[in-house]
Amino acid sequence: MKSFIMDTIKGYWYIAAAGSELKAKPINRKVEGESLVLWRDEAGNPHALRDRCAHRGMALSAGKVVNDCVQCPYHGYAYDGQGRLKDIPSLCSGERLPRVRGMKSLPVIEQQEQLWVWIGEQEPTRKPFEFPHYGEEGWTTFFMQTRFHAPVDMCLENFLDVPHTIFVHPGLFRNEDQDTVQTRVTRSGESVVVTFLDEKPMEGIGPRLVFPKGVKQKHTDRFILPSISRVDYEYGSDHQFLIVSQCTQREEFVVDVTTAITWKLPLPTLITKPFLKWYCRKVIQQDVDILEIQGAQMKVFGRHFTHTKVDLLGRHIHALRRNAAQGSRKLKDMSQEVSIRI
Ligand code: FES
Ligand SMILES: [Fe+2]
Repeated sequence: MKSFIMDTIKGYWYIAAAGSELKAKPINRKVEGESLVLWRDEAGNPHALRDRCAHRGMALSAGKVVNDCVQCPYHGYAYDGQGRLKDIPSLCSGERLPRVRGMKSLPVIEQQEQLWVWIGEQEPTRKPFEFPHYGEEGWTTFFMQTRFHAPVDMCLENFLDVPHTIFVHPGLFRNEDQDTVQTRVTRSGESVVVTFLDEKPMEGIGPRLVFPKGVKQKHTDRFILPSISRVDYEYGSDHQFLIVSQCTQREEFVVDVTTAITWKLPLPTLITKPFLKWYCRKVIQQDVDILEIQGAQMKVFGRHFTHTKVDLLGRHIHALRRNAAQGSRKLKDMSQEVSIRI
């Protein structure tokens, strides 16, 4: 097997779990190379520590919550949200609590139904990413969680890749009539965006059912550091549809993706929601299947690829992520028009 090194980009918030997954019992989640225990105190506030008891290394996530602390299931050491040892049930009388080393606490924020954990050496310097239009008047959002078995940059490229759609999702997005489309690729700061300047409205059952005919389509695909993809479709101000995905690396080839499907359409949610849930699940499952094969291939053959102009975002995603992971100087902003056939 080829060896890979997981590119972890520090200095960002990552989704560890959906808020609804964290109930009375502690849970373990791996986030960008850290194995964490998460739990809630009595007030419902979430906490995260590295999932290892300082005493004999037991997984704290196998324990329980006692007096707002997570209690180790082996000998009962109890730690608070800062990782301070608060209790040892078997301590002899007169014996003081020992100083513990190596307990690491991570900042957690519950925002927009998700538990975000700060991965970084310093204190948080920014807020978690906000899913656009979540909770706004006239907009509806639902979240999907999906596990992919491929490297995170391959997942991100897939979510923003146009030419795979007719092969992997036949009949769902586009028909096979190829067309030359003018695009503008703009990389600036922490993101890179492709604007499709004169794309024909999409075909396929999804777009046909929810978007109006004869209205000009506005379409952008965007990557945002460290691991977010955002796709926008707009057909006038009253038909808008967004697919925003946040990736968390559990392991090198295990990526959990939280996708927010968000829309504003002049159709009853009672109809749009079940349809979009079915449609998006079908589309995403097709990507899960193709990426699982790609991931397995990469384990055997490694990572060396060929590119053409239509691979608009892959190399930018790779460059932005590599620079951020290495803490190198920021890449120069750029903008260029590219004509592609899709
Ligand atoms: S291993 Fe945790 S209390 Fe002993
Ligand atoms: Fe896809």
